[in-house]
Amino acid sequence: MRRAVCPGSFDPVTNGHVDVINRAAGLYDELVVAVLVNPGKAGLFSVDERMELLRDAAAHLPNVRVDSFQGLLVDYCRSHDIPVIVKGLRAVSDFEYELQMAQMNRELAAIETLFVPTAPQVGHLSSSLVKQIAGFGGDVSRLVPKAVDDRLRERAREARS
Ligand code: PNS
Repeated sequence: MRRAVCPGSFDPVTNGHVDVINRAAGLYDELVVAVLVNPGKAGLFSVDERMELLRDAAAHLPNVRVDSFQGLLVDYCRSHDIPVIVKGLRAVSDFEYELQMAQMNRELAAIETLFVPTAPQVGHLSSSLVKQIAGFGGDVSRLVPKAVDDRLRERAREARS
């Protein structure tokens, strides 16, 4: 079985992530979308919420499974028998750091990285920009899945009250 992992913070999942997940799911028998548990960095959404939103966003893809991981990604890959990491590249600026991580992950555990160039329509998207815009009451409905938009509006309402 050809298996790959698509790792990230996904705080929250955007249409850019969904583009990469959709396309990676078409290349592998099983794609694990793995949310990083980072105890040093509290996100807007809890890891459970991020996973729930990801499951919803990937509900149309039967070969996608959502999980979380702590520590080194290569350790997660090794313990789950996953030989490939899939990453989306939005722009050349992403490449430098992503290349460094890909080379390091290969050195650490012979795990390969596949880069997927994101669709141009979503190349400007990032979770942090989406959070910032939604936090100031801006419309992000075209940038994120519906469930994420609903949840962001809920959060913005709570912050105002
Ligand atoms: O969505 P992000 O925050 O850009 O995702 C970054 C992520 C989770 C893929 C990266 O930080 C990661 O792999 N973290 C796990 C720790 C690790 O393996 N570090 C060594 C990388 S060479």
